[in-house]
Amino acid sequence: MDAQCNILVTADGVYRGDKLINLKKIASEALDRCKESSASSVQKCVVVKHPAFITSSDASSSLQTPWDELCDIWWDDLMDGVSDECEPEWMDSEDPLFILYTSGSTGKPKGVVHTVTGYMLYTSLTFKYVFDYHHDDVYWCTADIGWITGHSYITYGPLANGATSVLFEGVPVHPHVGRLWEIIEKYGVSKFYTAPTAIRLLMKYGKEPLQRYDLSSLRVLGTVGEPINPEAWLWYYDVVGQQRCPVIDTFWQTETGGHVLTPLPAATPLKPGSATCPFFGVQPAILNEHGEELEGEAEGYLVFRKPWPGIMRGVFGNQERFESTYFRKFPGFYVTGDGCRRDKDGYYWITGRIDDMLNVSGHLLSTAEVESALSEHPSVAEAAVVSRPHAVKGECLYCFITLKDQQEFNRTLMDELKRKVREKIGPIATPDFIQNAPGLPKTRSGKIMRRVLRQIARNEKELGDLSTLADPKVVEVLFSQRCEAAA
Ligand code: PRX
Repeated sequence: MDAQCNILVTADGVYRGDKLINLKKIASEALDRCKESSASSVQKCVVVKHPAFITSSDASSSLQTPWDELCDIWWDDLMDGVSDECEPEWMDSEDPLFILYTSGSTGKPKGVVHTVTGYMLYTSLTFKYVFDYHHDDVYWCTADIGWITGHSYITYGPLANGATSVLFEGVPVHPHVGRLWEIIEKYGVSKFYTAPTAIRLLMKYGKEPLQRYDLSSLRVLGTVGEPINPEAWLWYYDVVGQQRCPVIDTFWQTETGGHVLTPLPAATPLKPGSATCPFFGVQPAILNEHGEELEGEAEGYLVFRKPWPGIMRGVFGNQERFESTYFRKFPGFYVTGDGCRRDKDGYYWITGRIDDMLNVSGHLLSTAEVESALSEHPSVAEAAVVSRPHAVKGECLYCFITLKDQQEFNRTLMDELKRKVREKIGPIATPDFIQNAPGLPKTRSGKIMRRVLRQIARNEKELGDLSTLADPKVVEVLFSQRCEAAA
């Protein structure tokens, strides 16, 4: 609705591991909801028969694809009899290429707009240099094609370079925990790109699953999406790359279009956990709270001084939000929303988000978005969500729930709350911890003190200055009822 699109393209179903997901049913429910609003613009829904189901009658019959004769059309029927020739449409270099939605700290997602030439130039160039791409390479990025890593480094960057790529639909541990290593051996993958969360997951199974496969084709190992802890970095380097392959920790965002801080293989000396130095033409700076630029060794807000070809061109339909989110806090700079430290060698170390965002398995979520989903439950008076470190996912969600009078906090309610978040945002946002909070720590002006909630979630007893709290007793109660185990 936000993008005022006319056509929705989806598939009948998809497997995630051994779980069959009825994609068309989800799409139909979303379209029904859009139709309830007069702003809906979608006229047609094109449905691709997923190749895996064409041969599997079990799957297609269990899907029971919902069908609206007026709106839905099979892709195969639409393409029947169409010419194989398709002339390209000539575009202006600054025409929009796509809109990709990313979480915003106020809760409503932002439609990030990228343009034809700048984005393609930048993804193509970064792909070539950051993965040290050569024509005999076999490249594999395990990301989901639907988010920015899949756009930039499965689709545009590799295709613009004519690269041979492995496209993979699946999960790393299905049907067995050596799945990724098996594929690397099978196709002779030389450049491999994945997320720290996948590395941490696979680390748990030890070296044995890797030793069953020949990984000698590997040359460069990339990571993206969240800070990589040195332990996972070293495992990737020692065990997966057999100390032969540089680990390329690429820092970037949906908004940046492509890598902005990254080592170049065999050219940049590496430090485990650091995204090292800027890519060509990128000018990072570190600012303090007052917007003063810090020189040398320093820690503060990571910003960029000058644009580069792949930077977003706007928030779709909301120029004001584009300016206020990225440019107003520190005029003259693009603000990433991340904290960062620069060491004595000029290396950059991302310390994580400094706005109300959190990163679960490399997926950016806003606490406001989850809070609003939780607050839709009829028993909930108020919800506050903070992040808590998680051994595999990097961060996970810890939710404080204040119930309306006479409502009971029990297992059923917890399950309903989890379902609500899954439906509204997606399985990635499922809360790990849900705590009953008879009251929340608030300032006298009514602002929730998230810092205190974060400390409770992490069991940090040194709370610092609580003098601005309206009722400090709330904190003791919350500490005494903290969740030790996941919900
Ligand atoms: O917090 C940073 C983290 O992911 C955020 C961007 O998320 P998204 O737009 O979904 O794009 C993810 C894929 C590019 C950043 O603001 N992030 C991304 N890469 C890294 C990272 N944090 C630390 N190190 C990285 N290499």
